[in-house]
Amino acid sequence: MPAPPLQTRAIGQPLERVDGRLKVTGAATYAHEFQLPGAAQAVLVGSTIARGTLKELDTAEAEKAPGVLKVLTHLNAPKLKSPSGGPGAMGGGIRIEQRAPLSDAIISYAGQYIAVVVARTLEQARAAARLIRARYEAQPPVLTFAAAAESARKPAQSFGEKLQETKGDPQKAFAETSLVQVDQTYSTPAETHNPMENSATTAWWESPEKLVLYDSTQHVKGVQDIAAAAFGLKRENVRVICPFVGGGFGCKGPVWPHTLLAALAAKVAGVPVKLELSRAQMFSGTGHRTPTRQRIQLAAGKDGRLQAVAQHADIATSPVGEFTEACAFGGAKVMYASPAISFSHTLHTLNTGQTSFMRAPGECPGSYAFECAIDELAAVLKMDPVALRLLNDAREHPLKGIPFSTRNLTRCYKLGAEKFGWADRKPEARSMRVGRDFIGWGVASACYPANQWNATVRMRLQDDGLVLIQCAAHDLGTGAYTALTQIAADALGLEPAKIKLELGHSDFPEGPVAGGSNTTATVGSGLVAAADVLAEKLGRLTVDDPKSSLYRANAKDLRLDAPGRLVGPDGGKGESILDILERAKVKVLEAEGTQKMSAPGKLAFHSFGAHFCEIRLDPDTCMVRVSRVVSVMDCGRVINPRTGASQILGGVVMGLGMALSEETIHDPATGLPVTRNLADYHVPVHADTAAMEVHFVGEPDLEFNSMGARGMGEIGVTGIAAAVANAVYHATGKRVRDLPITPSKLV
Ligand code: MOS
Repeated sequence: MPAPPLQTRAIGQPLERVDGRLKVTGAATYAHEFQLPGAAQAVLVGSTIARGTLKELDTAEAEKAPGVLKVLTHLNAPKLKSPSGGPGAMGGGIRIEQRAPLSDAIISYAGQYIAVVVARTLEQARAAARLIRARYEAQPPVLTFAAAAESARKPAQSFGEKLQETKGDPQKAFAETSLVQVDQTYSTPAETHNPMENSATTAWWESPEKLVLYDSTQHVKGVQDIAAAAFGLKRENVRVICPFVGGGFGCKGPVWPHTLLAALAAKVAGVPVKLELSRAQMFSGTGHRTPTRQRIQLAAGKDGRLQAVAQHADIATSPVGEFTEACAFGGAKVMYASPAISFSHTLHTLNTGQTSFMRAPGECPGSYAFECAIDELAAVLKMDPVALRLLNDAREHPLKGIPFSTRNLTRCYKLGAEKFGWADRKPEARSMRVGRDFIGWGVASACYPANQWNATVRMRLQDDGLVLIQCAAHDLGTGAYTALTQIAADALGLEPAKIKLELGHSDFPEGPVAGGSNTTATVGSGLVAAADVLAEKLGRLTVDDPKSSLYRANAKDLRLDAPGRLVGPDGGKGESILDILERAKVKVLEAEGTQKMSAPGKLAFHSFGAHFCEIRLDPDTCMVRVSRVVSVMDCGRVINPRTGASQILGGVVMGLGMALSEETIHDPATGLPVTRNLADYHVPVHADTAAMEVHFVGEPDLEFNSMGARGMGEIGVTGIAAAVANAVYHATGKRVRDLPITPSKLV
């Protein structure tokens, strides 16, 4: 039974960020900024080979260098337990790199940490780190899918979802000569997150049994779990604090070696230790998106109706852990109706840093390949690419055969076509020009599942009318503080200004990893549950009072309503909540509410969207510039159109980078990431972005939660690279099937 819909007053308003002032004044404190008296600085030393054994590690010079307190290596570091993370990995902490840092002499990727230098100052630590001499016995690194053939395997599932599935008989359709066939292979390079705030940990041992970590993380409870297990501590004796995150995009979801090494360094050095990764270390030590190679097969009737779709992805992991990018979840599995569907994923072990979550893992590269293939089918059929997608829109989940709670892909395309002016598109490639520039118009679908996991929310109503709310969840810069404040305001019948929301502290009740676009739905549902408990508690204070208008009401039936009132099931004037507290002489009333992940049911919860993109190509330089993007998304109810649109825009900009410039190149000889700064790894800047519009359609998804809201952190980055690639085809007549689309591929 879905919860009753929440009234909406604050919800739906374009509230400014409640943490905006703290951020622009520099008052928001990030992990590396927490000041602890006597804190030392740690610097990590990485391996310069990608595969082999550490034969000698000479630290004598470094140990004698000025200011040095400790040098840790696998030879002298206390051994950490290697915690594997909790069951299902979404409950306990997540570790993708499973090997415990400094556990042995085996080197599995370039940049793998071989030493930690702790010194009084950062300069001293850096200088000493340069004095460490390592001698390796190197083996040739495995850096390509072809070279990794021996390790190739087909994992059964990823986070509970099957990775290899078939419905119907796709092979029969692919052999059918009367059907129109597309069979193409696409590739995407390794990509790296690059949040503005590098990963950082400040570690302090309050006592031998009590650890405090200021960690830049998407998951304080996960860091708590894993640090407790690694050091053999009680969970509550590890406190993890992270009120603000300067971007994560997935790289701060799992717990990486540097966090454990900061804690280890502080333990051994006997002082608090601050450790911040360099930008270069962010390219090897906190995960990256796998390179992918994806074969897409489509068979359709002459009318354009799909008869079979298949998506096979080759993806990479590393020797120190396992991660599977579920590419088909962004294509064959969910996008279009088809009587026959198959998808599969083959995992290869490469000697590069561990692959991991990066914004819409799976859906992002998967939608690129699949939506390019759909465009190729439209070209073969000589059909309009929007019309082809509308024709094949799915009424029910294509693979699970159950209905979607809501699905508005068609409305996304219709509104997008109108806003973009799609009707003016000339269908032939190379047919539209402005001056000397070729113009290309392309479209592609976006998709992302709706996730709602576990959270407990604590509320404290004070007799001055303020409500303090706490949950160990996070705002990565997404606007979660603001959106959750709006939900709390409506759940409590109060103005947003009366709500003080605190996130990012492991002492707070259980919160989820800020991943999978789940925070608003999960914590929002916990908030609503907590408000119900608070209403009942307030009710118990007043239903026995003959002077109360709620005298003899059933406390369980009461609810909170604006402005600041407790009312009966049919509304009415009710009682002021502050009057209730005053008459009962209660200064503070606490309540907790819990949201529990539900088992898969009879409905599929999923968001869809459409991107329309215009590119301009200079025929002399073959430079592609994106000039316009219109994105229309259906994410259920939009809690805050300002922060919501900003999430979609951020995803689109990230997708433009994926389409045109971003590529983490590992040197084919050494395996070292050679693009490891923002000069060589090209993240779009303002000058690279376009005129971008975001629109939302659809109805509140009240089967999903009482706010009717699905997440929007990730869907924006899905599909956009395909929309750009399809626009490039329309401008040039050339299909570039490997990202990024750099000028050399168009000459
Ligand atoms: Mo996101 S890649 O699920 O943190």
